[in-house]
Amino acid sequence: MTIRWTLLPASELPAGDAWLGPDERKVLAGFRFRNRRSDWRLGRFVAKRAVSSFASIDDTNRIQILAAEDGAPEAWIDGRKGELGISISHREGLAACVVSDGAAVGCDLEAVEPRSSRFVNDFFTEQERIAVEATAGALRDRHVALTWSAKESALKVLRVGLRRDTRSVEVEIEKVEAAEAGWHPLRATVSPEGRAFLGWWRQEAQVVLTVASDDERQSIAN
Ligand SMILES: CC(C)(COP(=O)(O)OP(=O)(O)OC[C@H]1O[C@@H](n2cnc3c(N)ncnc32)[C@H](O)[C@@H]1OP(=O)(O)O)[C@@H](O)C(=O)NCCC(=O)NCCS
Repeated sequence: MTIRWTLLPASELPAGDAWLGPDERKVLAGFRFRNRRSDWRLGRFVAKRAVSSFASIDDTNRIQILAAEDGAPEAWIDGRKGELGISISHREGLAACVVSDGAAVGCDLEAVEPRSSRFVNDFFTEQERIAVEATAGALRDRHVALTWSAKESALKVLRVGLRRDTRSVEVEIEKVEAAEAGWHPLRATVSPEGRAFLGWWRQEAQVVLTVASDDERQSIAN
């Protein structure tokens, strides 16, 4: 089965909230901070687009994206919880959403920017640290961003996020030097469970997007 991905900039957001469902509008009304409101709105917008395209639902008013108790997003269609895997990320005026036929998925956007050795020492495993430090020059920033982002994607698959030690996920990035656009593979191994997630990464300008899934038969396309 194919995971579908959608990435949209804030400039695509409609004015007003008429495109949000009644339960979504209640959630929006509860946010105190403007940044949180705008990130959340953009995430909802991209997720509704992604679900409507995945499930061939033309009328997006039938879809609501609501958070479960643990914070993970869930797609509700005509008031019933859909059998879809879904994940959302927002960063730097962009939001991404991935949708699957039910397999757990996670996605994450991160900026490619300088991060210190202290960050790497604190949050990465020994193998990740060695791999990152062996990456020369400007590519190091990309490698660090990809490793961090893939950890977050895997932690979203597990629905725990950063409640869990980031070193319990070990990431291997393939083709960190890839110059061409498009998707490239990654792998994330979760300890102590020993679960292995396959995933993909791509770079869009100064932002990387990673995706992870617990189903090895998946591929990715938009
Ligand atoms: C999930 C998490 C790692 C994402 O952090 P981030 O990289 O800063 O933000 P991103 O934009 O990439 O992802 C945010 C989205 O992750 C999703 N998310 C939140 N909790 C999630 C979970 N437990 N599992 C999977 N996805 C989750 C949501 O869709 C959220 O966006 P939304 O709330 O606007 O719908 C982080 O929020 C986290 O660790 N949450 C769990 C801990 C927690 O709940 N802390 C209290 C927050 S008030």
